[in-house]
Amino acid sequence: MGTLSAPVTRSGPSRIEQLAARRLREEKRWKRERFALRLERWWADVEAGLGAVYDPEVAAGLGERLVVLAAGAYSERPGDLARLDEQRILRPDWFQSESMLGYAAYADRFAGDLAGVAERVAYLEELGVTYLHLMPLLMTAEGDSDGGYAVADYHRVRPDLGTIDDLRALAGRLRRSGISLVLDLVLNHVAREHPWARAARGGDARHRAFFHLFEDRELPDAYEMHLPEVFPGLAPGNFTWDDEVGAWVWTTFNSFQWDLDWSNPEVFAALAEVVLFLANLGVEVLRLDAIAFLWKRMGTDCRNQPEVHAITRALRGLTRIAAPAVALQAEAIVGPEDLVGYFGSGADHGKLCDLAYHNSLMVHTWSTLASRDTRLAAHALSGLPPKPTSTAWVTYVRGHDDIGWAVSDADAAAVGLDGGAHRRFLSEYYSGAFPGSFARGLVFQHDLGTGDRRISGTTASLAGRDTAGDDPVELDSVVGRILLAHAVALGWGGVPVLWMGDELAIGNDGEWAGEAGHDADNRWVHRPRMDWERAELRHLSGTVEQRVWSGIRHLAAVRSRLPQLHASIPTDVLPVVDPGVLAVARRHPLGPLVELYNFTESPRSYPAGVIEEHSGLRVGSGTDALTASEVRPDDDGRVRVAPYEALWVLDRSL
Ligand code: GLC
Repeated sequence: MGTLSAPVTRSGPSRIEQLAARRLREEKRWKRERFALRLERWWADVEAGLGAVYDPEVAAGLGERLVVLAAGAYSERPGDLARLDEQRILRPDWFQSESMLGYAAYADRFAGDLAGVAERVAYLEELGVTYLHLMPLLMTAEGDSDGGYAVADYHRVRPDLGTIDDLRALAGRLRRSGISLVLDLVLNHVAREHPWARAARGGDARHRAFFHLFEDRELPDAYEMHLPEVFPGLAPGNFTWDDEVGAWVWTTFNSFQWDLDWSNPEVFAALAEVVLFLANLGVEVLRLDAIAFLWKRMGTDCRNQPEVHAITRALRGLTRIAAPAVALQAEAIVGPEDLVGYFGSGADHGKLCDLAYHNSLMVHTWSTLASRDTRLAAHALSGLPPKPTSTAWVTYVRGHDDIGWAVSDADAAAVGLDGGAHRRFLSEYYSGAFPGSFARGLVFQHDLGTGDRRISGTTASLAGRDTAGDDPVELDSVVGRILLAHAVALGWGGVPVLWMGDELAIGNDGEWAGEAGHDADNRWVHRPRMDWERAELRHLSGTVEQRVWSGIRHLAAVRSRLPQLHASIPTDVLPVVDPGVLAVARRHPLGPLVELYNFTESPRSYPAGVIEEHSGLRVGSGTDALTASEVRPDDDGRVRVAPYEALWVLDRSL
């Protein structure tokens, strides 16, 4: 008689179980059994993922290597992390909690180096941060490294920032303060100086097979027919001729970032080792950089291919087995129709990334601030397919990258707009060219083929800080826009991530082009160095810094008390009645939360009847959680929403 959980038809341990048992033979029995249970739970995902990508024999051989790798990482996992694993197995929704608050920064620009970051933990705690994304900090080559996204060694930290031991220590320090360390896993490409690329350049056949190399232009030209360009100005085309390797190398991003060939199982095995290495250092979330680009298919744009999802499924299964405390986050800045696929759709439902950036929400927040019309946002956001309830969006007002106007033509047409014209309007608005624009961003990578003009700029500069001068009314609008955008991000459910400096309304960095290797890439305009003197102003009443800082802190504090903001709850967009107001509802067994956002500088209103009809919330007994004051409809039955005001309405009688 087997145990209850054992499959009835089992004839004995599988090859995979045997290999694991062999690797763990020195371990105590309970530790071996714990691993066996995880295999029982998660191995099917590894198998399904590999099986969808590689030939059966290749997949089987790779699986055997991976289980030994996972068992090794499991066996060597430090005690405190093993404990965290158990905690998170018991509480798998840890990253969905309403008390999550993210912060993203370059270690050097925030605090000098890794030791400096540890000294600034108090600042993060003051803000309520529970998730810290430190921008790429692993070893890069000399010169331009695309902000660290060209990794030359996954096992070493950039020497100016510290060592692997410093990184491990920092992860522990953060964890003791309840802050999860988030690092990039740059898995689409490596630096031309990475040992794999060096070996390929030296003629080593094994490593040449790590990359997409072409002797002549025939295939590159055929691929190019369907490939968009990521950096049309900085790095035109998707292939680079390299004399040393004697071939055209696939380089989606910069010429010094060599795309890996994931159809080669050796690449999978190598990156899987990196994942488990980072996990055992104490990294708790891996941001899968440029994940959409991993798989190439002739005749397509080589983005969002099904194999990308299969690879993610296998990687996640493996991570869950060896280090279940670790979550995976997709960095897929793709159109709305492809976004939800990164959480897993169909048979992959809920089996891929735990977290994914909500690019659409970010784009529509800025689009609506410029147009003062919520109809497009309401249409686009309500049209997104539902995401699995076990996952979470990463919401953000802006990141370290430019803003690309991912507004679909179909969404625009549905509300009577021309997609191309609206995208042009947004580029002109945010670069300050549009008459009366409050924004002062820079155009990033004007694509002459498609007409796309992406935008660089800090939140404060895009929200009008540079144009407001000292005018108190204008400054009110600036603060209003910044806090409104953050209220939307914090009110959407998931992990809201603040970009360093936005909490203090820091404007564009006027000196951005002065640093070595930065002058051709104006994204550096919105990656300033932290100004710690200025940060002191957060305590000086009445300053813009203080108003924004305390406003964001307040939003985060209120949010952490609202179970309605747990990421498992969907956000439903309510009908647009006044085009200045975006209304959404989150229905929870403890009662609904209705959020009203006025995207304009004039007073607006929303009918209580529509709220009641669509959310069940009785507005007559409503309280705004943000001001702790009663919400009363006026005699005309409408709830007033002041310029740039956000209301988070609960039923106080519940
Ligand atoms: C991601 C990063 C971006 C980088 C690119 C290539 O999109 O966010 O900064 O340039 O990947 O690694």
